[in-house]
Amino acid sequence: DSTLRTLAAARGLRIGSAVSAGALAQEQGYRDKLRYEFNGVTPENAMKWSQVEPAQGQYTWGDADAIVDFAQQNGQTVRGHALVWHNSLPDWLTGGGFTDEQLRASLKQHIETMMTRYAGRVGVWDVVNEAFNEDGTLRPSIWLNRLGSGYIADAFRWARAADPAAKLYINDFNAEWANPKSDALYALVRDLRAQGVPIDGVGFQTHVTTGSALSQLGATLARFAGLGVDVAVTELDVRMPLPADDAKLTTQATVYRRAVDACLAVARCVSLTVWGFTDAHSWVPAAIPGWGAADLLGENLQPKPAYLSVRDALAAR
Ligand code: G3I
Repeated sequence: DSTLRTLAAARGLRIGSAVSAGALAQEQGYRDKLRYEFNGVTPENAMKWSQVEPAQGQYTWGDADAIVDFAQQNGQTVRGHALVWHNSLPDWLTGGGFTDEQLRASLKQHIETMMTRYAGRVGVWDVVNEAFNEDGTLRPSIWLNRLGSGYIADAFRWARAADPAAKLYINDFNAEWANPKSDALYALVRDLRAQGVPIDGVGFQTHVTTGSALSQLGATLARFAGLGVDVAVTELDVRMPLPADDAKLTTQATVYRRAVDACLAVARCVSLTVWGFTDAHSWVPAAIPGWGAADLLGENLQPKPAYLSVRDALAAR
């Protein structure tokens, strides 16, 4: 009877999961777990530019709409993901021979189209995703290369104008501990805020392994919260070298628990989202060969030690 969702709600925390549109459409067991265990959802892929506008001007809203409808029916907050990213862009955009000004207009229109369509139904957006290199320089994406570094401030201003009620986040990975990337992200958010750029929160993806202790996550969340923004764990998963065994699963459970404890300890850590909740639908094995078993539930939706440790962390006082 005590689900992650009910326990998290009692702590004032939103607990979410990335959602596979395919699994949502096809699997009743998946739908049931998603609605019982989580009060937040992030479309794993369905709102990416290449998915919603595969041909210029021709929108395919089916998967995104299905996720948003499900969330509304089940009282879940949607994190829209991701408006400005270097990845999963449509070919017509990247190979289209557009001028810089046309690209800039396309990006503005994309933000306006997405946010207007889902205004009132998507409460939080990852506006800018993965803008940094590991050394703290800006990633040489199509956006940086063609529009210059001002694209980040522009994107947030366009986003605020498109849906003034939405919470606007910058989101990245490998910023969960002290390193050049984390420092650069911190400096950017500080400077944007000082310039009045509308940024409400910082998302820490937290794609980690069973070898990561996550010992600095709490301090990092607190440091960024000190800038006066919300913070969130946005894409948590803890992969292991396959095959899984009891020792690895136990270690994984401690890493998940550490993430939950870190977020609970920081008042402005408003949500914790896992990047998929079942090993049956994880991005990891396809993307990182030899690794997997990264999620809270197993292939048959059975609770793993990690699920139990997250539940314990949410229940602890
Ligand atoms: O939809 C096509 C399908 O038509 C085609 O047949 C198939 C053949 O490969 O590809 C399908 O697209 C794949 C898509 O996932 C949907 O399954 C893409 O190739 C694949 O690259 C894509 O991977 C996603 C990846 O982002 C890139 O967009 C992962 O599922 C998704 O978990 C991952 O999520 C990212 C976050 O957005 C940002 N942070 C890191 C995180 C993990 O990489």
